[in-house]
Amino acid sequence: MTQPRYYFNGDNHKVDLDFAHLGFDYHPCPYRFEAVYELGVWRARGVVEETAMSLPEGSQCLHYGQQLFEGMKVHTGADGRVYAFRPEENARRMNDGARYIQGPEVPEELFIRGVEEVTLANLPYVPPFGSGASLYVRPFYIGIGENVGVKPASQYIFRIFVTPVGPYFKGGFGPDQGKSFMVSPYDRAAPFGTGHIKAGGNYACSFKPGADAKQAGFAEAIYLDPKEHRYIEEIGAANFLAFKGETLITPNSHSVLPSITRRSLLQIAREIYSWPVEERLIDKAELDEIDAAAACGTAAVITWIRQVVDGEKTWSFPFDQRWQQLYDSLVGIQTAAIDDPFGWRHEIR
Ligand SMILES: Cc1ncc(COP(=O)(O)O)c(C=O)c1O
Repeated sequence: MTQPRYYFNGDNHKVDLDFAHLGFDYHPCPYRFEAVYELGVWRARGVVEETAMSLPEGSQCLHYGQQLFEGMKVHTGADGRVYAFRPEENARRMNDGARYIQGPEVPEELFIRGVEEVTLANLPYVPPFGSGASLYVRPFYIGIGENVGVKPASQYIFRIFVTPVGPYFKGGFGPDQGKSFMVSPYDRAAPFGTGHIKAGGNYACSFKPGADAKQAGFAEAIYLDPKEHRYIEEIGAANFLAFKGETLITPNSHSVLPSITRRSLLQIAREIYSWPVEERLIDKAELDEIDAAAACGTAAVITWIRQVVDGEKTWSFPFDQRWQQLYDSLVGIQTAAIDDPFGWRHEIR
């Protein structure tokens, strides 16, 4: 266990990184947080330096995908303080996954403590306010052990690494930053499978659809419901939102990952702007009737959709000022540029 200590020349307490021009790439930071589960007890190892992990070859995470991950962001606020955004929601979602893959839950206190410790240990890597970048926090959870049978592990590692990131889709948010997406013929999740939890297996199977979409010149793949291929599900690692008239609509499906960004945006729409909100099935044919569309998620924030292409058919959408309002409210709350009426900011100190 290492006690992080930094010394600075002058007033700049940040590493010498071009924060304003970062992409969404892995840039290793010096420290990660780790806890291990053995004999029914979680034990925090605290902040560690090694990026490499040594695992028994029979580990369930390697053979049977007994694995979960999370993604969230830490921002430097306008007030110079450092804030995570709703980390308890990520802890709850990870534990929904843990119950499904038959592993032990990570106590919320341990999860939050890990986010705090890893952020504090890597403070010079937290992008400054106004840089447009943030610290991406990646908690993950793996089943390990000497094993060969198809069964849940009895030992687990919970680890969190961080990396400073810029926008997920190049260009970030703006009226001239609409992206095009391709409806995929493939599925990322089964109708009553694991689409609703953040298990690694849901992502390996999205590599081909994503690669096909990118090769054809699109930003990402859009998935339809896996049963009828009729209803819109989600977009790569982001949820789908649209305005139909005055109403903000979003798909309601068991195989969609319940996005914390989406939940936050729906609450902002309802409670700050008094816009009607509907979570319901959205038939692909309904794209003819919608006024504006967007993808949302921790990484994508809000990315508005310029075009959806499905074989021969193309739908085009304009930028809608309401995306700007939602973006300003969400990012304003995350970065303490505005008040936080919902208590979503979690200060790290
Ligand atoms: C498949 C999928 N959908 C949606 C999201 C967006 O979720 P959140 O807003 O919690 O980041 C993610 C990212 O976590 C994802 O992987």
